[in-house]
Amino acid sequence: MNLRDYITEVPNFPEKGVSFKDITPLLEDPQGFALAADQLLDFTEGLHIDKVVGIESRGFFFAPLLAHRLNAGFIPARKPGKLPRKIHSQEYELEYGTDALEIHQASISEGDRVLIHDDVLATGGTARAMCDLIDNLGGVVVQCNFLIELSFLNGRDKLEGVPLKSLIIY
Ligand code: PRP
Ligand code: MG
Repeated sequence: MNLRDYITEVPNFPEKGVSFKDITPLLEDPQGFALAADQLLDFTEGLHIDKVVGIESRGFFFAPLLAHRLNAGFIPARKPGKLPRKIHSQEYELEYGTDALEIHQASISEGDRVLIHDDVLATGGTARAMCDLIDNLGGVVVQCNFLIELSFLNGRDKLEGVPLKSLIIY
């Protein structure tokens, strides 16, 4: 089966006119899960990576596995107020209002080579904020990779200069 066959499109979710890309069938299927993990890892071939950042929540499905397979550290980027120690925070715009992502300041050392992973690249606001956060802490973003890219939302334009890879492009 093709990777795309494991994604179920759900019309009018979470609101009218939106076709939601549901990845839970892919997660539930051992072959689908393995295929996605292997292909995400292929994207990183030849790159030296010290840390893998996964973005809460859906970035947590694959990022720890990628970190394990790359022999890199896993860093959870969390929604505000969840991390107990000294944090670094980056706000980003939502359709209505703003949100933020946080990581522990001690998680990134100057010069760390970082892979950022999330399930979906949509408008690019989330990934842009994550890249800025890593930059501000002295890390180097060597790649952002995604299971799915919604190319009609032009997220790539917000991430100019960052190496981007996505497995399935709509
Ligand atoms: C979704 C998705 C990405 C982000 C992409 O997460 O998982 O993280 O939106 O959107 P963008 O490119 O327009 O910024 P969401 O914030 O819905 O939360 P979740 O992962 O906790 O479900
Ligand atoms: Mg998300």
